[in-house]
Amino acid sequence: MLDNASGNTNKIREALAFRASLPDDEALAMPAEFYTSAAFLEVEIDAVLRKEWLCVGHIGEVRNPGDFFTTEMVGEQLLVVRDRDGTVRVLSNVCRHRGNRVAEGSGNARKFICQYHTWNYDTTGALVAAPLMKKRAAFDQKKCGLPEFSSEIWNGWIFVNLDGQAEPLTPRLGGLQNVIRNYHQDERFLVFMEEDEWACNWKALFENFMEGYHLSATHLKTLHKITPTRLCRKMVSGDAWTGYHAYYDPDYPPRGPFHPDLTEDETTNSPMYGVFPNLVVGMATNFTLFMCLRPNGPDKVRIRWGVTGIEDDPESQAVRDYVDLCRSFNVEDREKLEILQETMKTRTFDGGPLAPDDYEGTIWDFTKYMARLLTV
Ligand code: FES
Ligand SMILES: [Fe+2]
Repeated sequence: MLDNASGNTNKIREALAFRASLPDDEALAMPAEFYTSAAFLEVEIDAVLRKEWLCVGHIGEVRNPGDFFTTEMVGEQLLVVRDRDGTVRVLSNVCRHRGNRVAEGSGNARKFICQYHTWNYDTTGALVAAPLMKKRAAFDQKKCGLPEFSSEIWNGWIFVNLDGQAEPLTPRLGGLQNVIRNYHQDERFLVFMEEDEWACNWKALFENFMEGYHLSATHLKTLHKITPTRLCRKMVSGDAWTGYHAYYDPDYPPRGPFHPDLTEDETTNSPMYGVFPNLVVGMATNFTLFMCLRPNGPDKVRIRWGVTGIEDDPESQAVRDYVDLCRSFNVEDREKLEILQETMKTRTFDGGPLAPDDYEGTIWDFTKYMARLLTV
């Protein structure tokens, strides 16, 4: 069993290494096992997901001091909280006593009380009360705070680095920031947030979101009339990100209101970008759709997806219309991806030729990124 598993992961690493050796115009998709192997997911967790910056949500979820939400990432229970002084922190949501989950769901709190034996933590994670523990001479309350993970905020998105060793994220995204600067993502308000789970591999969703090749075929009834495949143009991407411009069909009405800094060209396309390895973003001129991905086994992905907009009214008709559009094309993507997860059980699919750079070059960038982290 162990031999099979390690044989399987070696085969996938070899497939990545082979692709990394190919010229760009011979770009190939990855073989089936890349999307189905449980053993390879463990490798990804150690070599990619615990080492890199992972997006867990948006600062709009923790607007005020005491606001918090909980989530999970590759086995770590996380408590994301804005402390009383206004700092956003990503804490371990595991009680320092015997390991119960300290907080559930989301809300606003002055302190977090573990429901097992009522240890109390403040919004910085410090332990502030522990019933009867003073009777134990060796007990040091100061040493029993909730551990804090490294975190960073970029354009309103909250990132965590689980192993604490990653280089700062913002400098790695300088090239992307130059492309998207005029859209002023950091000024957009969170107007919608939801949690979902699809029955597909997390990388398959990353790749699907990031390629424009399927827009006209899969989204014939929704996105084709707005951003047809033929108008996609790849960005010159970086080591930590990839992206393309989804240009609008000239027959589609203008998608304002526009930020006054946008150039004329910028009013005519949505930058679509992925911050490796788990944030994908479609930044239209009026709204931004984003998805933070996390695996739940090799064949399921949990998604925290949200929408930010220039205007701060979650109830407005424009927001409702945009969320409806997102829901409609999400159904179309999900259907394809869940079929793909079934078909990837085959042992014959070895990864076919990718479409030209403007349409699937983003998948090629992601493949080379994975190869950099997973091959020597
Ligand atoms: S496990 Fe939290 S108080 Fe005991
Ligand atoms: Fe899609």
